[in-house]
Amino acid sequence: MSKLLPLALTALALAACQTVPKKQVIELTEQEARGYAFAKASCAGCHAITANAASANPEAPPFDAVVNTKGLTARTLETFLRDSHNFPGQMAFEIDPAKVDDLTAYMLTLKRPGYQPPI
Ligand code: HEC
Repeated sequence: MSKLLPLALTALALAACQTVPKKQVIELTEQEARGYAFAKASCAGCHAITANAASANPEAPPFDAVVNTKGLTARTLETFLRDSHNFPGQMAFEIDPAKVDDLTAYMLTLKRPGYQPPI
C-alpha cells in the first residue's frame, strides 16, 4: 500500500489537470504562420514577438506593444516595415518586401481590445 499511494496521488493529480481549461490557443492562418516564422528568425533576437513577453533587447518594443499603439493600422504598420529609411538605428536592415505582408498579418494577430502594457 505504501508503495501504491504516491502512484494513486499522481493519477489524481493528472486527472485534475485535465479538467483545467486549456490555455487559449490562437490559430494562425497560413500567411500569419509564415509571418510568425519569419519574425522568429529575423526579429526575435531583439523583440518579443508573442503576446505578454519581454524583449531580448530591452530597447526593442515587444511586438504586442507596437501593434497596440493607438492609431496603428495594417496600413501604417506595413508602410513602416516596407520603408526601412524610417527605422531607428539598431534596425539598420531591410525587410524582404515579399515578407512584409506575412509579417504584418502575423503582427496584427497581437492586437487586442483593451490591451494593457505589461508595466
Ligand atoms: C538588432 C536588434 C533588432 C532587430 C533584429 C529588430 N529590431 Fe525592431 N527595433 C529595435 C530597437 C532597438 C527598436 C526601438 C528603437 C527606438 O525606438 O529608437 C526597434 C523598433 C521597432 C519597431 C517600432 C518602431 C516604433 O517607432 O514604434 C518595429 C515595428 C520594429 N522594430 C519591427 C521589427 C521587425 C519586424 C523586425 C524583424 C524583421 C525587427 N524589428 C528586428 C531593434 C531590433
